[in-house]
Amino acid sequence: MTDTPADTNESTSDHPSIDRPGADEAFVVTPYAVSGEVDYGRLLERFGADPLTDEQIARFPDHPLVRRRTFYAGRDVDRHLEAAEAGESHAIVTGRGPSGPMHLGHVPPLYLAKRFQEATGATVYLPLSDDEKYLAKAQSFASIGEHTRENLRDVLAVGFDPEKTRIVVDTADADVVYPIAVRLSKHLTPATVEAVYGETDTVGLQFYPAVQATHLLLPQFVEGRQPTLVPIAVDQDPHVRVCRDVAGKEALPVSKPGALLGRFLPGLEGPGKMSSSGDAPSIELTDDPETVAETIRRHAYTGGQATLEEHREKGGDPTVDVPFQYLRYVFEPDDDRLERLASDYRSGDLLSGDLKEVAIDRITDFLADHQRRRDALGDLVDELEPYRLTASERRRALESAGLPTTLR
Ligand code: TRP
Repeated sequence: MTDTPADTNESTSDHPSIDRPGADEAFVVTPYAVSGEVDYGRLLERFGADPLTDEQIARFPDHPLVRRRTFYAGRDVDRHLEAAEAGESHAIVTGRGPSGPMHLGHVPPLYLAKRFQEATGATVYLPLSDDEKYLAKAQSFASIGEHTRENLRDVLAVGFDPEKTRIVVDTADADVVYPIAVRLSKHLTPATVEAVYGETDTVGLQFYPAVQATHLLLPQFVEGRQPTLVPIAVDQDPHVRVCRDVAGKEALPVSKPGALLGRFLPGLEGPGKMSSSGDAPSIELTDDPETVAETIRRHAYTGGQATLEEHREKGGDPTVDVPFQYLRYVFEPDDDRLERLASDYRSGDLLSGDLKEVAIDRITDFLADHQRRRDALGDLVDELEPYRLTASERRRALESAGLPTTLR
């Protein structure tokens, strides 16, 4: 299995698996653009990642997101599983680009990382790429800063163990992030960046992949070489490929990070990536129960029939029904209950409106817990402190990346 394209490409244009944005393809998936109807199987061929096997799924800590193959593919998953099973050090990195309020689509990687941490004691690193979002979006740094603060509250509300978790904000932790990114960027050519991400508007965004590569290696720079798994939606896989490529180019005490790749939580309007920037509304993690109910009742695409009689007669289609899909992704963890909903829907006994109410119920329960923990947070500065890199961790990261620490 090749690690394409970043691991192998010198000349990029003739590489078959490069996902060149704007190329004549039925769908486009890069960290900065998702469009068309995503064929998740073909995407793996393009990216050069592997579908998860049944055996791998059985070895992960049990979670509906893995069991039901929402996270469906990966890179180097076995090394991570072996370390977790042997009780050896292993890390997880998943991050957030703070360009707006967090919504339901952001739940899967964060809560999965939390579940893994509880089950296997994984170290979890959570970088927030405020630099990336400043560069990628038409927003001031003040506005990105606001979102960073609010997003941090959501990240903290997940309830990670501060002993085993580090939260990094690129501009606030630049003393560590920047020098390492510089070192890695020496191996990142404009041709690779363009091949992997498409044309970037600014040199800032062209440099950013070196920053995200830094995120993915940071646990190893701080805590020593160890298998690192990156659970993310599949559009972020290019960052992993670039990181794997540059990590191999210098003698650094790190191994290439692996990936656990997820499908997109569908938007309310139907299949695709849930987005806060499009027209359709999304359900934010701070929405109150009435807003959640109203938004789902009014906007959720259903797999029901046009009339009541027709629905009773022909039944609905859970595979395209957004409320059902939300339940299947995360919000109804009980497989038997989920299967009963699906079969009652197919038979026509359960109406689209009823299914919407079940989804509203489960989602508002989930959000009530999340919001209770979020609201209990006091001053963010104090709250964040136990999750920040310590002075000695910062020094260690720079030292192991071979960087000068003379002024520290
Ligand atoms: N680039 C990601 C996004 O736009 C956020 C992010 C930053 C991230 N660093 C990361 C995700 C590391 C996973 C791992 O959403």
